[in-house]
Amino acid sequence: MASGHRIAVVGATGAVGQTTLKLLHERKFPVRELRALASKRSAGKKVTFAGEPITVEELKPDSFKGVDIALFSAGTEQSREFAPAAVKAGAIVVDKSNAFRMDPDVPLVVPEINGETAKHHKGILACPNCTTIVTVMPLKPLHDAGRLRRVIATSFQAVSGAGIAGVDELRSQTLAWARGEALKPSFFQHQIAFNVIPHIDKFVEGGYTGEEMKLVNEVRKILAAPDLLISATTVRVPVFTAHSISVNAETEVKVSAARAREAFERFPGLKVVDDPAHNRYPMPIVAEGQDDCLVGRIREDISNPRGLNFWVSGDQLRKGAALNGIQIAELIIR
Ligand SMILES: NC(=O)c1ccc[n+]([C@@H]2O[C@H](COP(=O)([O-])OP(=O)(O)OC[C@H]3O[C@@H](n4cnc5c(N)ncnc54)[C@H](OP(=O)(O)O)[C@@H]3O)[C@@H](O)[C@H]2O)c1
Repeated sequence: MASGHRIAVVGATGAVGQTTLKLLHERKFPVRELRALASKRSAGKKVTFAGEPITVEELKPDSFKGVDIALFSAGTEQSREFAPAAVKAGAIVVDKSNAFRMDPDVPLVVPEINGETAKHHKGILACPNCTTIVTVMPLKPLHDAGRLRRVIATSFQAVSGAGIAGVDELRSQTLAWARGEALKPSFFQHQIAFNVIPHIDKFVEGGYTGEEMKLVNEVRKILAAPDLLISATTVRVPVFTAHSISVNAETEVKVSAARAREAFERFPGLKVVDDPAHNRYPMPIVAEGQDDCLVGRIREDISNPRGLNFWVSGDQLRKGAALNGIQIAELIIR
């Protein structure tokens, strides 16, 4: 019998699903059989895995017979509806939507940070939100070095974080601008080309957005720090891929900029890019296509003796979604 695992990629035609197919091959994940699932609209279309065309099937409750691991990236509603069916059919679900992240029975896993939590699942494991992952990667070594007390995060989020429709809208508005035509928003609430929009996801209580509260709640869960003081402002920017976050962090014990740099350098999945003399710092165009999150502009907060400022950029389709999901699957099969 052929070795390897039977994998379903749910949302295989989407931005995360496409990256998942690419990374499964790139990381030589042992795939015996691959099932590509998406909506009825895509049934019969082809996606490519390991250089071979795979026919997309419509996602249905009976799509998971014989599947070992189902990597879900088809949206929250689809995960809520179909992940239980996948588990019932015997598959382990790695879910990238918001459906189960805060469920106490579901581990919320960033393998470099809390990989051991992946052992205690009941069939579903969740990947954090993409902005959460890029933010929490440098927060973890800082937490270990001086125990975090308070975090203030401001994000600069790429349009591909909203899926293929976000990419299409930035591209079409940029082309329209070049032709001197009017720019009409249809997917984002406002024009995204040559603009920034301080509004991602629905507004919730207290004037925050859902995206901001995901970051707050998920960082606390991943770091097992329920009392961490944290607030966020999340912003969509006209960048195709890779999210950046400006972070101000206060620790209980002072962590100097030099010590923070050392801690970041030692942490797997982080790369320090911090050479102001040569204008080198993380930027989305540098982070795009990389597995590591890039951290730089590391400096002590002149307004707080136990505060640090830094800037992190990470490819949110890779580490923020597909890569993190595959790393979880790698933990499962180990
Ligand atoms: N983009 C990111 O950076 C990122 C990062 C972390 C997590 N996520 C999460 O990952 C999920 C997918 O995001 P994305 O950016 O890949 O979105 P996307 O580019 O819009 O792709 C959505 C995928 O879901 C499928 N889908 C939509 N409705 C469906 C239905 N009713 N039944 C079956 N399949 C359906 C789509 O299939 P069709 O092509 O047939 O419509 C497509 O394959 C979301 O939950 C998102 O929050 C995204």
